[in-house]
Amino acid sequence: MRITLQNLTKRFGETVAVDDLSVTFPSGKLTAILGPSGCGKTTTLNLISGIVPVSEGKVFFDDKNVTALPPEGRGIGLVFQNYALYPHMTVLQNICFPMEMKKTPKKERLARAGKLGELVHITSLMNRKPAELSGGQQQRVAIARALAKKPDVLLLDEPLSNLDAKLRVEMREEIRRIQRESKITTVFVTHDQEEASSIADEIILLKDGVLQQQDSPRRLYDEPASLFVADFLGTPTINQLTGIIRGGGVLLDGSNITIPLPMDENLPEGLAVILAIRAESIIARPEALDFRASVIERYSFGKDELIRFYVGCEQEMRGYVPSEINIQEGEDLPIALQKKGVFLFDAESGARYA
Ligand SMILES: Nc1ncnc2c1ncn2[C@@H]1O[C@H](COP(=O)(O)OP(=O)(O)O)[C@@H](O)[C@H]1O
Ligand SMILES: [Mg+2]
Repeated sequence: MRITLQNLTKRFGETVAVDDLSVTFPSGKLTAILGPSGCGKTTTLNLISGIVPVSEGKVFFDDKNVTALPPEGRGIGLVFQNYALYPHMTVLQNICFPMEMKKTPKKERLARAGKLGELVHITSLMNRKPAELSGGQQQRVAIARALAKKPDVLLLDEPLSNLDAKLRVEMREEIRRIQRESKITTVFVTHDQEEASSIADEIILLKDGVLQQQDSPRRLYDEPASLFVADFLGTPTINQLTGIIRGGGVLLDGSNITIPLPMDENLPEGLAVILAIRAESIIARPEALDFRASVIERYSFGKDELIRFYVGCEQEMRGYVPSEINIQEGEDLPIALQKKGVFLFDAESGARYA
């Protein structure tokens, strides 16, 4: 089932929660709605489900206009952060409940519940009550229950944010697997860029209710449309240097250092820009020649080692350093830039130049 939002707007009084949003969620794929808190993710999901009525615009499921349909009429399964299983019912009863409401015959109910139990890996837990389950197990049950009615669309709103970090990673892989096996069109809301990138076929990135970019996680990271996108994706956060275009490079503000650019650009001299550089695009080794940096700190970051350094006195950057390089705080380090992961944005608007 393909979901299409056409010029969708939602206002709450003065607040424009979703602003003229036109996007398509491809059929059979997992699409993440990503963005900072308050950017309109939940509202967008609620407009798709029909829980919240639109102010303007239309919602289509395939070619059918569902804008005026109530949630019950849309064929959706919902999972929220607070999973709200029925506490007095067993897992099996929880999964069967939506089918009972639909008057599905008992034999069929049990058969389907059994299949769903297998799909989400909870077959040994069917007779337990929710209180006897871990957070991750409860979330599996919630997903099974949402799938019980054979919805055309599965809508998940920050379903993992109540889980601890390790379980969150496990469960996102599980959701990915469940989605692949069931091939159900899925919309997954999260504010966590790493979670979105690891789980989604496509990401819809919002800011202030406005679409910033829709792309695969890879393309969003490698080809950001704006500084906001480049800044939102990636850990550590992309380095940002301010300066002006000068002789094919960027003359950094507050210094006399010009960083030569690895990419082609044809920008006017003196244009104020932000040079954004991914940490992994920085080559720090003795034979590198683009510019020199002064090491502030060297520290481990997961499995890698990062250096934090100054360029041009006061602008700070982070890059990876090979462990065999023996550089200490306060020392000078020659730096070169790779072509990939280096971008130029307008200093004012954040629009991408190169
Ligand atoms: N029921 C509501 N009444 C008034 N304002 C709301 C309501 N729901 C959401 N908002 C506002 O709309 C904006 C988007 O909210 P929301 O969609 O919940 O964002 P997100 O899920 O991305 O954190 C916020 O400014 C929020 O305060
Ligand atoms: Mg939300």
